[in-house]
Amino acid sequence: MAMITTVQQHILQQQQEQMKASGREASGTFSWLLSGITLATKMIEAKIRQAGLADVLGAAGAENVQGEQQQKLDVYANQALLHCLGLRDSVAALVSEEDEEPVTFNRDAETGKYIIVFDPLDGSSNIDVNVNVGTIFSVLRRMPAELGTLEESILQQGFRQVAAGYVVYGPSTVLVYTTGNGVHSFTLDPTIGAFVLSEEQMKMPEQGSYYSTNEANAATWPEEYRHYVALLRDGGLGKTYSSRYIGSLVADFHRTLLKGGVFLYPPTEKQAKGKLRLLYEANPLAFIAEQAGGIATSGAGRILDIKPEGIHQRTPFCVGSKREMEALKEILAGVATK
Ligand code: AHG
Ligand code: MN
Ligand code: MN
Repeated sequence: MAMITTVQQHILQQQQEQMKASGREASGTFSWLLSGITLATKMIEAKIRQAGLADVLGAAGAENVQGEQQQKLDVYANQALLHCLGLRDSVAALVSEEDEEPVTFNRDAETGKYIIVFDPLDGSSNIDVNVNVGTIFSVLRRMPAELGTLEESILQQGFRQVAAGYVVYGPSTVLVYTTGNGVHSFTLDPTIGAFVLSEEQMKMPEQGSYYSTNEANAATWPEEYRHYVALLRDGGLGKTYSSRYIGSLVADFHRTLLKGGVFLYPPTEKQAKGKLRLLYEANPLAFIAEQAGGIATSGAGRILDIKPEGIHQRTPFCVGSKREMEALKEILAGVATK
C-alpha cells in the first residue's frame, strides 16, 4: 500500500521538529488550529463543486466593507471559516475581508494566542464562469498583554506571521502552506477527503517566462511599470515573455510559484494605493514567495516590512522570481537596465 502523508500529519511533524530544535514539546494546539482551516476549505470546496447545480451562484444582495458585491459563495466561505475557527480555543481574533471589524473572542492571552486573517473566497468575479478561485490565510501570534493590545497584535508586520497559506480550487484542490520552514503543497484526494502531500520544500524557479497583470490598467500605471513590462516583452531579460492573467490572485500566484515569472498589481489612477489587500492577500503570499526563494515588494519596499495601519489596507503588490523582481527593483530605484 502506498504511504501517504496528510497535511495534518505534516503540520504536526513540522511542529515537533521545530519544537525539538528549541528543546520544547509540541502541544498540538497549532495543528488543531490549522485543522480548522482545512476543514473549512473542504466545506468551501464541496460547495464550489455544486455551483451550477444547486442555487449557490450569483450575488447575495449585499456589499462588503470594500463596497464590493458579495457573492453567495463569499458569504458561505466566510461563515465556514468563522464557524470552524471560532470553535478553536486558541483563537483570539478572526479578521476577514468580508467583515468590517475583527471578530474577537473573550479568551485569556495564554489560551487564545492566535489571530487568523483571511480572504475567504478570492477571485469571486470568476465563480460564475467556472474559473479557479481560492482561499488565502495568515496566522499571527497574539502579543502578551504587556507588549500590546489585541488590536496591535492584528496590525503586526508581515514578517511576524507564524504561518500562511492558500487553497486553490481548480481542476484539483491544492493547499500550499508555510510556517517559515519552507513551502509545502498538498492535493485534496476526494476519495478520502484528505489533503495529501504533493511536494515539500517548493522553490520558485529563478526566472520564468510569464508576466501576469491586468494590462488594461497600463495607461494609468506609474511610467516605470510600463517600461518594465515592455522590457519583459522585448527580450530585455534574455527571453521574450508571454502573458497570463486569470484575475484570481490565488491562481495567478500559484502559477507564478510553480513556473516562475512575475505578478504585478501596480497603483492605478483609480486605485492609487493598489487594489490588493495587505493583511489577507499580499502578506501571506509574500511570506510564501520569500520562503520559496522569490521576492515581494510594494514598489516602495518589502511587503513583509510594511507596518499595517488598518485591517483592510490596500497595497501595490509585485511578486515573483528573483531575476524578474531584481530587474523591477532596479527600474523602480531609477537604475537603468539594458
Ligand atoms: P476578491 O475576489 O477576494 O475581492 O479578490 C479579487 C482580486 C484578486 O483576486 C485579483 O487578483 C484582482 O482582484 C483582480 O483585479 P482586476 O479585476 O482589477 O484585475
Ligand atoms: Mn481576494
Ligand atoms: Mn475575497
